[in-house]
Amino acid sequence: MRFNNSDLIKYKMHYKICHFKSLTSTQDKAKDFAEKGLSDIVVVADTQTKGRGRFRRKWYSDRGGLWMSILLKPNNIINLQYLTFAAAIAALESIKKLTNIKTSIKWPNDLHYKGKKLCGILTEGVFGKENYVMVGIGLNINQSSFPDKIKNTTTSLRTIKKNTLDIEKLTRKLNEEFFNLYKNYYNKNRFASILKIWKKNCDTINKNATITTKTKKLQGKVIGIDKDGNLLLKMKNDKIVRIMEGDVKVRYQS
Ligand code: BTN
Repeated sequence: MRFNNSDLIKYKMHYKICHFKSLTSTQDKAKDFAEKGLSDIVVVADTQTKGRGRFRRKWYSDRGGLWMSILLKPNNIINLQYLTFAAAIAALESIKKLTNIKTSIKWPNDLHYKGKKLCGILTEGVFGKENYVMVGIGLNINQSSFPDKIKNTTTSLRTIKKNTLDIEKLTRKLNEEFFNLYKNYYNKNRFASILKIWKKNCDTINKNATITTKTKKLQGKVIGIDKDGNLLLKMKNDKIVRIMEGDVKVRYQS
């Protein structure tokens, strides 16, 4: 990506975008920066050779997508799910504003368009004397095809719009949206406001779903999301189970 050939560009929101042609993973590079004590840095790569998703899954990261990690040193690390929510909102809003495409959030942190995945988010941390968080965002923008394994479940903005999009513009907009939520909501403990916007855009509520956790498979109807962002699943026997974000897969049923 371009960014005037300069590796570090400082924006008025006081974060820097650091661009690379190829990395193993933007999460790894962000972690290197964290180990040097840096933060408020956005690491972007045109391709990743070892892009990773949740559940240690491979994340396909050929040219054409936006692969980035936002490195932060947040005020608190006990509410990190709201950083993931803020990233999902930022992706959704930037897509809506720049392309007019209306996507929805699939709990806990995927962006979908008509049931196909457009964007995934992976939040990881380096915790110690100082705490750092890397919010990794993978957004399919200009790819026109995908590997067989994911081609039926994945889409890109170009496939939807039938147009090539400006990745750099989308990157800037997404970060502008994210840092606004981060500085004005997350770091001011205004979690309820983040949750409210997130819930408004989440289409998981009222769906019949199968939830696969590390230990079990649960089927039921999603009846809501609680104040901490946990999913509330009503089972056939009317029991309500609270499911936390983590190693969980959600599949909708008709
Ligand atoms: C998911 O499983 O849905 C989360 C995918 C997150 C992918 C992004 S791409 C940029 C960053 N670097 C990585 O290696 N992963 C995240």
